[in-house]
Amino acid sequence: MSYVEKELRVRRIENGTVIDHITAGKALNVLKILELPDSSQGVVSILLNSQGKYGKKDVVKIEKRELKSEEVDKIALIAPYATINIIRNFNVEQKNKVHIPSYVEGVVRCINPNCISNSNEPTTSKFKVNSENNELELRCFYCGRVISENIAEYLL
Ligand SMILES: Nc1ncnc2c1ncn2[C@@H]1O[C@H](COP(=O)(O)OP(=O)(O)OP(=O)(O)O)[C@@H](O)[C@H]1O
Ligand SMILES: [Mg+2]
Ligand SMILES: [Zn+2]
Repeated sequence: MSYVEKELRVRRIENGTVIDHITAGKALNVLKILELPDSSQGVVSILLNSQGKYGKKDVVKIEKRELKSEEVDKIALIAPYATINIIRNFNVEQKNKVHIPSYVEGVVRCINPNCISNSNEPTTSKFKVNSENNELELRCFYCGRVISENIAEYLL
């Protein structure tokens, strides 16, 4: 494939958001967080296993939309190295690293089937986020169980 063809596979966007440096394989989880756009919204394009400077990455490009901070916090849990690029008039106007929240509510479900947050009681799931030494850990506020792997699987 020639260089030009490669570049034309995804159209440049005029206004919107590019979520770059998503951990390879996690783009579909990012889409789940953002909720799929309906027909009134702009184009969303996804690159899986794109070759980046530091290895493979996924990229999600969303036309005509900027993200809410709660959405960005959720993305941080599954793609801690992601950057959020705001595109205006075809240019990168702003570039922000995602920020890992210290606490999340109503975002993931507890791994413990007997946890009160998984019962019929009207409780909202709550986790303390520990992100020391590059490992993300979520500790349940109710039962203390820790989720440290495959966090994306537990997204609500
Ligand atoms: N108008 C646009 N439409 C679609 N994607 C764009 C547009 N402008 C930039 N991008 C994409 O947004 C991301 C950030 O763009 P930038 O020009 O800052 O690249 P970069 O210098 O490689 O950034 P970084 O250092 O964060 O990797 C890249 O993935 C780039 O392909
Ligand atoms: Mg780059
Ligand atoms: Zn629990």
